[in-house]
Amino acid sequence: MKKEKVLVTSALPYANGRIHLGHLSGAYLPADIYVRYKRLNGDEIIYVCGSDEHGVPITITADKEKVSPKIIIDRYHNLNKEAFEKFGMSFDIYSRTSLPVHHRTAQDFFNTYYKQGLLVEKKSKQFYDEKAKMFLPDRYVEGTCPRCGYEEARSDECERCGSLYEPSELLNPKSKITGETPVLKETSHWYFPLGKFQQRLENYVKEMNEKYGWKDNVLQYCNGWFKDGLKDRAYTRDLDWGVKVPLKSAEGKVLYVWFEAVLGYISATKELSEKKGDPDFWRKYWQNTDTKYIAFIGKDNIVFHTIIFPAMLMAWNDGNDDKYVLPQNVPANEFLNFEGKKFSKSRGWGIDVLEFLEMFPADPLRYTLAANLPENKDTDFYWKEFQARNNGELADILGNFINRTFTFVHKHFNGIVPERKKMEAIDEEMLSLLEKQTAKIASLIEKYKIKDAVFEMMNLARAGNKYFNDSVPWVTIKKDSGKCSTTINICLNTIFTLAEIFEPVIPFSAKKIFEMLNAQPTVWLEAGKENLKPGHKLNPAVILFNKIEDKQIEEQINKLGKLETEPVKKNEEITIDEFKRVKLKTAKIVFAENVKKSDKLLRLELDLGSEKRQVVAGIAKSYTPEELIGKQVLIVANLKPAKLFGLESQGMILALDSTDDGKVKIIEVDSSVIPGTAAK
Ligand code: 2FM
Ligand code: ZN
Repeated sequence: MKKEKVLVTSALPYANGRIHLGHLSGAYLPADIYVRYKRLNGDEIIYVCGSDEHGVPITITADKEKVSPKIIIDRYHNLNKEAFEKFGMSFDIYSRTSLPVHHRTAQDFFNTYYKQGLLVEKKSKQFYDEKAKMFLPDRYVEGTCPRCGYEEARSDECERCGSLYEPSELLNPKSKITGETPVLKETSHWYFPLGKFQQRLENYVKEMNEKYGWKDNVLQYCNGWFKDGLKDRAYTRDLDWGVKVPLKSAEGKVLYVWFEAVLGYISATKELSEKKGDPDFWRKYWQNTDTKYIAFIGKDNIVFHTIIFPAMLMAWNDGNDDKYVLPQNVPANEFLNFEGKKFSKSRGWGIDVLEFLEMFPADPLRYTLAANLPENKDTDFYWKEFQARNNGELADILGNFINRTFTFVHKHFNGIVPERKKMEAIDEEMLSLLEKQTAKIASLIEKYKIKDAVFEMMNLARAGNKYFNDSVPWVTIKKDSGKCSTTINICLNTIFTLAEIFEPVIPFSAKKIFEMLNAQPTVWLEAGKENLKPGHKLNPAVILFNKIEDKQIEEQINKLGKLETEPVKKNEEITIDEFKRVKLKTAKIVFAENVKKSDKLLRLELDLGSEKRQVVAGIAKSYTPEELIGKQVLIVANLKPAKLFGLESQGMILALDSTDDGKVKIIEVDSSVIPGTAAK
C-alpha cells in the first residue's frame, strides 16, 4: 500500500484552565489513536499541538488574580502539557502561541493580506476606559439592561432577558477594570472579507467531501454558514495582550485571537523544525501538495477550521508561490458530558485529567473514552462504566487471555514459543481472523471510526479467549502434545496481534505486552501474521490491569456536585445596618402570565397580606405561569420600581443562581406562613 505523508493537528487548548475528560474525547484522544495507528502503518506523519495563549478569557483570569497574563499562561501551559504527557499523547511538538516564532508567523500573514489590499478598514464606536486608557472588550463592560433592568448586563447583551442591543443603549455602563463610566469612542479595525471567499469555500468543502467523506455534523454546520452568507470579520482588536498588529498606525491593537490561533499549527511545526535543526522541515508538510492534512477538533471549533482557516490559506496562496495545503478532513467530534450533565468546574461536576491520573492509570481511561467517543452524538462519561470497562473488558477479557496463555507457556513450555505441529480448522480460522481483524480495524481508523475500531479490537481478544477454551490445551497437553503446542503458538501470536492493534488505544499496556513477548511491533498489516517463531524466548508475565473496587468508584461519585464556590472577599462585606435596609417579605403568587414579546419575562401578581404588588420576573425559561400560581416566595419589597417592557415591576423575587441547564430556582416559603411576613 502506498505510504502517505500526513500532517495531524489537534485544536490548541486555551492556557486558561485545566484539560478535562471532555477535551480529551473531543480533539485529542481520537487524533492520538489515529496518529499512533498511522505510525505503526509506516506512514510519514507528524502530530502538532500547543497552547492557545491569547484572547480575552486569559486577561480576565489574570485580572481576577491580579497577576500578569504571563503567569496564567505559564501555569496552564505547564499543567496541560504534563496532563497530556501522563495521558500518553504522542505529539511531536507541544508548542505555545506566545513564542516569537508564532508572533512572526501571524504578523507575516497579516502583512501579506495587507499588501494584497485584501483587508478592509472600518470605523465603529466602542466603550473606552479613560482611566485605564484602553478600549474595553464586551466582557469588560457591565451596566443596566435597557430592556429588563438587570444590573449586571454586558455591553451589548443581557444574560437575564437575552436581549441584544447597541452598546450606546446600555444604562449606567461601568468598566470592570476601574469601575469608571466608560465613554463611547470611535475606533477603527481591519476586517477580513470572508464573503469574497464564499464560492471558493463552498467548492472546497464539496470537493473534500466528495473525495474524502466529511462527517455529516461538519457538513451541516458549514452549509448553515454558507446559507446565511459569509460576512466580513474583524481581524483586529483593541487590546494589549496578543500578537501586535504590525502597522505603525495600529498602536494598541492586536490580531483577533482566532485569526492567529489557527496559524499556531504552522508556527508549532516551525518550532519543531528548529528543534530538529532542519529549518525548512515544516515546508515539507505545510507546503507540499502530497500532504494529507487532518485537523482534529471539537464541534465548537468547526467554523474556524472549515471556513476561516481555509479562507486564510487561500488568501495567502493567491499572493505567494509557496502555497499551503488546506485541511483534507476535519473530523470534529460532538461533546462528552459527565454523568448526564455538562462539565462544570464551578459546580464541582466533572474531573480534570491530572486529578484523574493521580488515582487511576491512563490506559483504562483511554480505553473507556475511546469506546464511547462522541463521534456522531454527545456521549457521557459514567464512573460505573469506567469500572465495568476496566474490570469486565480490559482485565477479564484482554488481560485474562494474555495471563492464561503466559501462565500455560511458562508452566508447560518453559517460556518458549512452541511449534505449530498439527493445524486443524479451528487453528486456520483463528489465524485468518488475525489478518482479517487487523485489516478491518485499519480501515475503520482510516475513516475516523475510532469507536467501532475499538469495539473490533476487544472482539479479537474475545475470540482469543474462545479459541483457548475451545482448544482445551489443559486437556491436550496430556493427550495430544502436537495440538497443544499449536494452540499455544497461535495464542501467543494472537497476543502479538493484540498488542499491536491495541497500541494506539492503550500504549502503556501495549508496551508491557511487547516486553513480555520480548518483541517489537511490526508494520500494521503484518501484525496478523506469524511474528513469534518457534523457539523464541518469552519474558515473565507482569500484571496489566488491576481491578477497580466498588469503594473507589463510590468515593468518586460522592464527590460530584460539591461546589467549589469562591469565599466572600473582605471588600465585598456589608454592615448589618446596610443589610437591614433590604426589606425581605413573603408573598403569595396569585396570578402569573407571560409578558408579550418576551420569552424570558413573566408578569406576576403578588399578595403581601396588606397590599398587592405586580412584579416582572425573568424566570419564564424556568417556570410556566401555571406552575407558579399558589406558590409563596421571598421578595425584596423595598426595591425601587422599574419599568420592563412597559410594565412596572414593584419588587424582585429571590431565586437561586442558574444551574447548568440555565434554569433558576425560586426560593419557596411554606404555604402556612402568612403572606407579607418579614424575613431577616
Ligand atoms: O476552543 C479552544 O480551546 C481554542 N483555544 C481552540 C483553538 S484551535 C486553533 F485555532 F488553534
Ligand atoms: Zn435584560
